[in-house]
Amino acid sequence: MWGGRFSDKPDALMQAINVSIGFDRRLAAQDLEGSRAHAAMLRDTGVISAADEAAIQQGLADIGAEMEAGTFPFRDEFEDIHMNVEARLRELIGPVSGRLHTARSRNDQVALDFRMWVRDACDRTGAQIVALQRALLTKAGEHAETLMPGFTHLQPAQPVTFGHHLMAYVEMFGRDASRFADARSRMNESPLGAAALAGSPFPIDRQMTAKTLRFDRPTANSLDSVADRDFALESLAAGTICAIHLSRLAEEIVIWMTPQFGFVKLSDAFTTGSSIMPQKKNPDAAELVRAKAGRLLASFTQLSVVMKGLPMTYSKDMQEDKVPTFEAFDALELALAAMTGMIADIEPDAKRMAAAAGAGFSTATDLADWLVRELGLPFRDAHHITGAAVKRAETLGSDLPDLPLSELQALEPRVTEGVYEVLTPQASVASRRSYGGTAPDQVRAQIKRWKEYLG
Ligand code: ARG
Repeated sequence: MWGGRFSDKPDALMQAINVSIGFDRRLAAQDLEGSRAHAAMLRDTGVISAADEAAIQQGLADIGAEMEAGTFPFRDEFEDIHMNVEARLRELIGPVSGRLHTARSRNDQVALDFRMWVRDACDRTGAQIVALQRALLTKAGEHAETLMPGFTHLQPAQPVTFGHHLMAYVEMFGRDASRFADARSRMNESPLGAAALAGSPFPIDRQMTAKTLRFDRPTANSLDSVADRDFALESLAAGTICAIHLSRLAEEIVIWMTPQFGFVKLSDAFTTGSSIMPQKKNPDAAELVRAKAGRLLASFTQLSVVMKGLPMTYSKDMQEDKVPTFEAFDALELALAAMTGMIADIEPDAKRMAAAAGAGFSTATDLADWLVRELGLPFRDAHHITGAAVKRAETLGSDLPDLPLSELQALEPRVTEGVYEVLTPQASVASRRSYGGTAPDQVRAQIKRWKEYLG
């Protein structure tokens, strides 16, 4: 490509460190699409003739067909996807192919291709997140009344419903989807036409290529156009947060599946056995989803460090932007799909969860609230009396709902029989009707709101 200036071949090591076709071949479709739009624009603006454009478009179409058929020769000696396409175009249509690179550089070309790839990846991921939310909404709807313990510090805190718990994740993944959508809207500017870094002396129409390639507008500064990789960084940041959410849900599935908890079952479809211990059913898929967060964060860190301190504008360091980005999206897409499958598959053991929901003095707050409501005690006093009741129940080996009235009256003489109505986990859950609370009506209202929103 630069034989005019160079007379010697590159060292084998130069080629080894320089070559990127092994991974940037994943930009092939974007590269062809960008070239088609660029060629059409060059003709439209009179930079190349109609006949030359037709020949170039035909050659690009033939290359597309070769790629589809799997016969396109990806060659290391042509370094990257852009030069592989260009070299092949020359073989197919001859020297006229050389006109395609007018008013363009690999710098704006790779910025364009990569941006379009990341844009597609954000769209795919966004759709996958919605699919996961739908699976969660379905499960949550089935279990709007299914009791389970709510935890803080992984200690039983207050009874909640399984539906309410799942809806917490619908909120998290909703924020993830909006982060991807937000990143997408910011990245949706076309860098094509920035050329090497300073713009082009040809009468190019950047609005036209931007429109053809479904961008909102062209980028406004040619230097920034070729130097910017924010779009990848932002997407990796959004992806990392999403992977963190996935890992938290995965961790809960792992915990819930232990025989000690026994809250949920996953079918054989999402578990594995042990080669030595016949009784085992392991939540491997959940564990691997949990682990993928490491890959996402590593990718974000990797690209951040590559970009840090790079002077304007393009530096070859930036070729290293693709591997972490591809890897991150591959991992995230797999993790989202696996989690969606697991959520559809998961079956809670409602009996065990209800028993656990009522254990561990989980309605102690309800007792304190009753003392405040019915007897007009300050909450701190009520908290103190309830603490004493829990201590007494512990000594007697009973739970709060089974503590005799005489015991409660020994602590506060005005306590009446009516207190027992609030001490069951059902009553506790039903009473939490504040907006966003765990009462089944509230949970159903949130499910309805999300279903309407997702359409
Ligand atoms: N393969 C290169 C990359 O991925 C393409 C851009 C090369 N530009 C250059 N000035 N060498 O970044």
